[in-house]
Amino acid sequence: METFLVHFIFIFLCSVLQQCESRWIERGTFRSFTTLRKLHIDNNFIKILPDDVFAVNNSLEILTLRYNEISELHPQVFQQLGKLLELDLSNNELSSIDAATLQTLSRLTYLNLRGNKISLLGENNIPQFPFLSTLNLENNLLEYIVPGTFALTPQLQNLYLSRNKLRYLTNGTFDGLSRLLALTLVGNQIGGMDSNVFIGTGNLTSLDFRGNRFNKFDKKVLRSLQNLKHIYFDSFEMCIFAPHVRVCEPKSDGISSQEHLLDNLVLRTSVWIMASVGCVGNVMVLLGRFIGGPTNNVVHSLYIKNLALSDLLMGIYLFAIASVDYRYRGEYLQHQWRWRHSTLCNICGFLNTLSCESSVLILSLVTWDRFVSVTQPLARKQPSPRAASFTLIFLWTLAAIVATIPLTSVGEEYFGNDFYGSNGVCLPLYIHNPFAKGWLYSILLFICVNALALLFICYAYSRMIREIHKSTKACRSTQQSQDRDKVAQRFGIIVLTDCLCWVPVIIIKVAALSGMQPSETYHRFVYATLAIYVMPINSALNPILYTLTTTLFKKQIKRFFDSCLRSRRPCHSDGLHNSGCDSGYSHSLSLFPKRESARKILTYRVSLIQGTQTSLTTTKNSSCKRPTAV
Ligand SMILES: *[C@@H]1O[C@H](CO)[C@@H](O)[C@H](O)[C@H]1NC(C)=O
Ligand SMILES: *[C@@H]1O[C@H](CO)[C@@H](O)[C@H](O)[C@H]1NC(C)=O
Ligand SMILES: *[C@@H]1O[C@H](CO)[C@@H](O)[C@H](O)[C@H]1NC(C)=O
Repeated sequence: METFLVHFIFIFLCSVLQQCESRWIERGTFRSFTTLRKLHIDNNFIKILPDDVFAVNNSLEILTLRYNEISELHPQVFQQLGKLLELDLSNNELSSIDAATLQTLSRLTYLNLRGNKISLLGENNIPQFPFLSTLNLENNLLEYIVPGTFALTPQLQNLYLSRNKLRYLTNGTFDGLSRLLALTLVGNQIGGMDSNVFIGTGNLTSLDFRGNRFNKFDKKVLRSLQNLKHIYFDSFEMCIFAPHVRVCEPKSDGISSQEHLLDNLVLRTSVWIMASVGCVGNVMVLLGRFIGGPTNNVVHSLYIKNLALSDLLMGIYLFAIASVDYRYRGEYLQHQWRWRHSTLCNICGFLNTLSCESSVLILSLVTWDRFVSVTQPLARKQPSPRAASFTLIFLWTLAAIVATIPLTSVGEEYFGNDFYGSNGVCLPLYIHNPFAKGWLYSILLFICVNALALLFICYAYSRMIREIHKSTKACRSTQQSQDRDKVAQRFGIIVLTDCLCWVPVIIIKVAALSGMQPSETYHRFVYATLAIYVMPINSALNPILYTLTTTLFKKQIKRFFDSCLRSRRPCHSDGLHNSGCDSGYSHSLSLFPKRESARKILTYRVSLIQGTQTSLTTTKNSSCKRPTAV
């Protein structure tokens, strides 16, 4: 009968008092419910709990007052609750708790004070709770915990202190917690701790340190925690401070893990492949252009050579990373700090930045060159090789300065000493912690320069396509429109690869800056793909786009092999192929034909864009005819 009654009252009270928007509770409201076991008064607007609401000597075991507006507890309010086991005061407005108020709750095992406004915890706040096993103080405003605060709660096993404002853990903070098993300190502002802070908590098995400020501490701190089985940090690098802990999270940052610089097999293989493609392609371009001898467009050839050189640096960078990964295979954690702060890592970062920036600048220059040739063919005056060299030297210097600044002693204060060494692949992307030292510079590098260049390239190529579209309208042959489509296609691919390379970087940087907190897996995925696939993609593709796939290059290669096989005669003496031979495969932007008819100019434009411009004699009689070498 009694249980039935209690049950009835319980259901009744639950339905009545939860979410019925009560603002206050009358004195003695529950005075007659001496047998009540559970009472839930959640989701109301209760501000004050009078001191004699509960029946004398009642049997209440569970009391929840979640989501109210209680800012103060009357000193005698819990006087009759000597049998209470669980008290939940989460999400109220309490700014402090008083040991005197709570001390009558001598049988309490569970106390939840989550989501209040408690800012200080000392001996006066936590009374003797001989049976308390769980104490939740998450989401408060705790700045400091006085040493000895938990001295009278010897049975405490779970202590939740996440999302407070703790700055420092002093000796004695956790004194008396010899049975503590789990401690969470997530999302505080802890910048350091005394080396003996965990001396009395030898039974601790799980410790969560994520979202704090410190990035290193004394190895001695965790030494007394011999039973620790799980520990959680922000970065896997911190695991070096907990060598005896069986599970240390996170295991990796997406690129590196505790074992390897490049964590997974796909990544490891891709680095070698991307490095090889980047190096081989660009070396081929460079060799081809040097061996190929003089061309009749020296300037354009110069641009392409420089572009190849800049992309080659990316290949070298990838090779360096791949080799270091090979060297530290299996034992990366021990070496990671030294590696990230080494000269080689700085050089890698420098190479990567230099390559990216110079590549972007030279691509913009090439685009500018084409743009001017196409939009103002008659006014166009080809820059002299000298002027072009100066422009290139200027761009290289600019890129080099940008890449060097973080390494100079001048920048040390702003950049800290691991701008490039912020991760294992020495890439200052700053996605994990977008506001770490030097973040503005990172924005400048990865957002501003790239975005401007990208906008310009997109604009220029769309203008060029429109220009060609307009001029080819006059000649309505199907051949001509086919050519136009090919041009558009080629442009499309060039712009697309640039976008592929830069847009993801820009988007992800912006997302990181705007405070998006995506999942850990997302972070890992992003970092790895950006570093190994996205950023180097242009370097690997540029030689293909700008040289290797052009018809003239193929022709030239074929001719080179043919002539070598046939007679080993020098190319030039072959009278039949004379014109093709010394025109080379790189005169895609040869000098503009002066005083030619407008129609010839149109044809010229098309061939110009395709990078397949044939010698002018072929176009002379063809007007709207398709250029011979497409
Ligand atoms: C409370 O109950 C206990 C026994 O459980 C009894 O000894 C005591 O006298 C009661 N006190 C009051 C005030 O009823
Ligand atoms: C903490 O304890 C250690 C060892 O007893 C001692 O060396 C250190 O000075 C103490 N720190 C503070 C702030 O008391
Ligand atoms: C662990 O807890 C047991 C009681 O459960 C206690 O006797 C022992 O001293 C504790 N160990 C340490 C290292 O504090």
